[in-house]
Amino acid sequence: MLIERGAVMTIFEAYNNTKKRLAAAGIEDSVFEAKAIIRHITGLSNTEILTSYMNELTEFQENNLTAIMRQREIRYPLQYIIGTWGFYKYKFKVGVGVLIPRSDTEVLVEAASEFLKDKENPQILDLCAGSGCIGISLAKDYPDSAVVMVEKFDEAIRYIDQNVKLNEAYNTLLIKGDALEGDGKENKYDLIVSNPPYIPESEISLMNAETKFEPETALLSEGDGLKFYREIAHIYKASLKDGGMLAFEVGYKQADSVCEILNQNGYKDVKAVKDYNGINRVVCAIK
Ligand SMILES: C[S@@+](CC[C@H](N)C(=O)[O-])C[C@H]1O[C@@H](n2cnc3c(N)ncnc32)[C@H](O)[C@@H]1O
Repeated sequence: MLIERGAVMTIFEAYNNTKKRLAAAGIEDSVFEAKAIIRHITGLSNTEILTSYMNELTEFQENNLTAIMRQREIRYPLQYIIGTWGFYKYKFKVGVGVLIPRSDTEVLVEAASEFLKDKENPQILDLCAGSGCIGISLAKDYPDSAVVMVEKFDEAIRYIDQNVKLNEAYNTLLIKGDALEGDGKENKYDLIVSNPPYIPESEISLMNAETKFEPETALLSEGDGLKFYREIAHIYKASLKDGGMLAFEVGYKQADSVCEILNQNGYKDVKAVKDYNGINRVVCAIK
């Protein structure tokens, strides 16, 4: 028996309807997201959408939109729905089990990339690599570099593997290991970067609805949230070359404490760098 399809929707109607439903679900940037979702289900670019907005969605596209809206209305992250996300200059696959690369983290990559400008064949270590967005971006910016990425959890490691292939970043090496145990410390590096878990347990309730779908192991750090900074600053100091840089992403209230940790460990030129919202987001220092 053939089931009749209801009234068909044009791209324009689908966009308007999506935007309204996203806004009603409390999603701030409903215009940006509605465009992203329409691009995703139709496979069209923004320009193509403008020239074909009166075209009707196919039944497949309409069903896909219905499924996506059901997920998004319970605040399942847009990035997981789309499956790839732009970070810095590159694209990364993302999904359940891996932290979504944040624009704040681009500040860390920019500071690191600037430091590497005059270095030849730099040796780089990315601790707590997640999707690989930091390590792979630096490997792409500096094809003569060698980048070691350390990540503890298999769910994230699957994405690093895919992202190395997606970006053809074959000057990288992935180690399944523990940054609190010193894995990867055998080499000498020009640069050590890390965006470790840093949310204290006391702040978990402040996280937005989407973040609750991301792995807790990527976000939470026991106690005051500073454990990874203390351990990495101490354990990996011997692995930095003299004149090498250690650079961390830090939580919005943590820059002063992390600067203190680096000073206590004998690093020089300790400084904080602000993100696009004027918050101290990166702390770096020289050995
Ligand atoms: C805040 S996320 C950062 C991910 C990625 N670097 C980024 O900037 O998007 C922290 C990452 O550290 C990993 N992780 C947690 N504990 C770890 C440990 N002890 N050793 C290595 N990686 C760890 C998590 O699985 C997660 O991928």
